[in-house]
Amino acid sequence: MKNPFDLSGKVALITGASKGIGEAIARIYAASGASVVVSSRKMEAVEPVAQAIRNEGGQATAIACHMGNVTDITNLVNQSLAIYKTIDIVVNNAATNPVFGPVVNTTEDAFDKIINVNVKGPFELAKQVYPLLKEKKSGSIINISSVGGLRPEHGLGLYSVSKAALISLTKVLAKEWGDDNIRANVICPGLIKTKFSEALWSNDKIMNVMMKSLPMKRVGTPEEIAALALYLASDASAYSTGAVFTADGGFTI
Ligand SMILES: NC(=O)c1ccc[n+]([C@@H]2O[C@H](COP(=O)([O-])OP(=O)(O)OC[C@H]3O[C@@H](n4cnc5c(N)ncnc54)[C@H](OP(=O)(O)O)[C@@H]3O)[C@@H](O)[C@H]2O)c1
Repeated sequence: MKNPFDLSGKVALITGASKGIGEAIARIYAASGASVVVSSRKMEAVEPVAQAIRNEGGQATAIACHMGNVTDITNLVNQSLAIYKTIDIVVNNAATNPVFGPVVNTTEDAFDKIINVNVKGPFELAKQVYPLLKEKKSGSIINISSVGGLRPEHGLGLYSVSKAALISLTKVLAKEWGDDNIRANVICPGLIKTKFSEALWSNDKIMNVMMKSLPMKRVGTPEEIAALALYLASDASAYSTGAVFTADGGFTI
């Protein structure tokens, strides 16, 4: 019997893959047989991840791409195609959150930055890859949102808005591209131990309050999100599209 989680022969493009959840996704995809394009803003941050994957016998290439820059996104797609000839899986994982506090204090500049990187970038990347996936009649787009996109977080107002928009974008793509056998699904992680969320998990006061109501009483790991992203990239999820998957230790119950 063929392993439904096997990604042999597939090419996966992962944004924000120099660390945290994106790196864990790149590693599990490569370990499952995919050739991976490991991308983030800084070449010096992504090349060591690609090298580590190659050292373990996997196929990986590092390409720098700022997800708020459309020219960078076009370059990411073109360079990936030049190297691997095709793309099968896109993981929109990169995100930014430059502000913390009430929305009334959020500047226009911060608003534009958050929406550009967290919503416009994933839209642009999916749109640029679409003609190729349509021709192949096959593809999987995985967007990494947040529980904040389902239930806004205090102090993370516009970040939550952007993550809600990403959930909606996923459903729109799933609806419009389902007939082409291109699937789009979204993951909403709860609190995961990465650099991005360090201000939360390193704060004992916040943790004490949070753990009182969190059913699983612990933060998650990047690998626990990556395993779900593997399911969504693979044939194991062949009939799932437009779906919203939480992996949050029960936070949203
Ligand atoms: N950690 C959590 O608790 C949590 C919870 C819910 C959702 N999420 C979501 O999970 C995703 C990954 O977060 P993480 O926790 O793994 O964060 P992380 O460890 O801080 O990693 C973020 C990654 O994104 C890259 N990046 C940042 N800005 C970028 C940009 N403009 N263009 C391209 N790449 C960019 C970073 O690399 P460079 O600096 O080299 O660009 C890095 O590779 C995000 O979408 C986040 O919203 C995280």
